[in-house]
Amino acid sequence: MKVLVTGAAGFIGFQTALRLIERGDTVVGFDVVNDYYDPAIKEARLKVLEETAARAQGDFAFVRANLADREAVEQCFATHGFDRVIHLAAQAGVRYSLVNPHAYVESNLIGFTNILEACRHAQTPHLTYASTSSVYGANTKMPFSEHDGVDHPLQFYAATKRANELMAHSYSHLYRLPTTGLRFFTVYGPWGRPDMALFMFTKNILAGEPIPVFNHGNHTRDFTYVDDIVEGVIRVSDQIAEPDPAWDPSDPDPRSSNAPFRIFNIGNNAPVKLSAYIEAIEEAVGKPAIKEMLPLQAGDVPDTYADVSELEAAVGYKPATPVREGVARFVRWYRDYYGS
Ligand SMILES: NC(=O)c1ccc[n+]([C@@H]2O[C@H](COP(=O)([O-])OP(=O)(O)OC[C@H]3O[C@@H](n4cnc5c(N)ncnc54)[C@H](O)[C@@H]3O)[C@@H](O)[C@H]2O)c1
Repeated sequence: MKVLVTGAAGFIGFQTALRLIERGDTVVGFDVVNDYYDPAIKEARLKVLEETAARAQGDFAFVRANLADREAVEQCFATHGFDRVIHLAAQAGVRYSLVNPHAYVESNLIGFTNILEACRHAQTPHLTYASTSSVYGANTKMPFSEHDGVDHPLQFYAATKRANELMAHSYSHLYRLPTTGLRFFTVYGPWGRPDMALFMFTKNILAGEPIPVFNHGNHTRDFTYVDDIVEGVIRVSDQIAEPDPAWDPSDPDPRSSNAPFRIFNIGNNAPVKLSAYIEAIEEAVGKPAIKEMLPLQAGDVPDTYADVSELEAAVGYKPATPVREGVARFVRWYRDYYGS
C-alpha cells in the first residue's frame, strides 16, 4: 500500500511510519519540521525512517512542506496516488494554545481543510486523522465515551480538534469520503515529545533539577504507550470507514453517521494518578524527583479515562503495555539517545 503519513517527523507520525515501512508499505512523509520543540529530534527521526527503508521491504519518501500551503499539498497528492492517508501533523499541546492560537488555526484548521480537499479530489479510499481526549473538555462522566456529546472544549487546541471531527463529517457526507477520527489519550514512549511531562521529568530528574507538578499530582491520565497507539492507528487505517446502518437521525449518536464517518477513543483504559506516574519515572531513572507542587493549569482537564470498547469491537484493539513498563522503556531510550 502507498500511505501518506503527515507529521512523519513528529512523535506518533514517526512511530507509525516506521511500522508501516517495516511491514512493507510505501510511505510518503509530509512535515514542515517546525521548531515548536527542538527540530534536531525530528531530523533524527527522519534519518531513522530513511535507514529503515534502506534495509526493510518498504519505502520512504519525504516532502518537507507546510500543510497550510495549498499548492504543496495538491502537488503531493498529484505526484502520488495514496491508498491511505494517515493525518497526524498538527499543532499539538494544550498550554501553547493559550499563547499562540494562530498556530492552531494555520495547522489544524487551514491544514486540515487542505488535506480534506486533496483527499476529496484524489478520491482517497480512507482518511484517518488525529483528534484528542481534550475534546471531552468539561465532561466528567467516566470513562469518556464516544457516544457522549463533546461540545464544551476548555481550550482552543481542543476546539480545533473538535472542529476537525465536524469538518470530516461534512466531507464524509457530501463527497462520501471515508474518514475515521482517533481521539488519542496522552501518548508516551521512546522518541516522545520534549514538551511532554515524561520527557521533561526524566531530563530534570537526571539533572537534579525540580519538576513542576501541576494539580499537586492529583490528576489522572489514561497514559497510552506509543506501540499500542500505532497498532490501533494501523488497524483502523486498514479498515475503511463505512456508514453505520444502525445510526438514527432522530436520535443521533455523535460517533457515527449514515455517512462513512466514525470516531474512536484510543487510550489505555487504565488511568494512573500523576503522582504514581512520577514514581514510575523515579524508579526507572533510579533517583528521586525534586517536586515543585503547583495548582491545576488553565485549560487542563483534571482527569481522562478512555472507554475503548468501540475500538476493541471494530478492530480488536487491546492496549498491552502497563505504565511502569512503558516508562522504563522510555527512560532506557532517553539515556541511550542522549548518552546520559
Ligand atoms: N502525543 C499525544 O499525547 C497526543 C494526544 C492527543 C492528540 N495528539 C495528536 O496526535 C498527532 C500527533 O502528535 P505528536 O505527539 O506526534 O506531535 P508532534 O508535535 O511530535 O508531531 C506533529 C508534527 O506535525 C508537524 N506539523 C505541525 N504543523 C504542520 C504544518 N502546518 N505542516 C506540516 N507539518 C506540520 C510538526 O513539525 C511535527 O513534526 C497530533 O495531531 C496531535 O494533536 C497527540
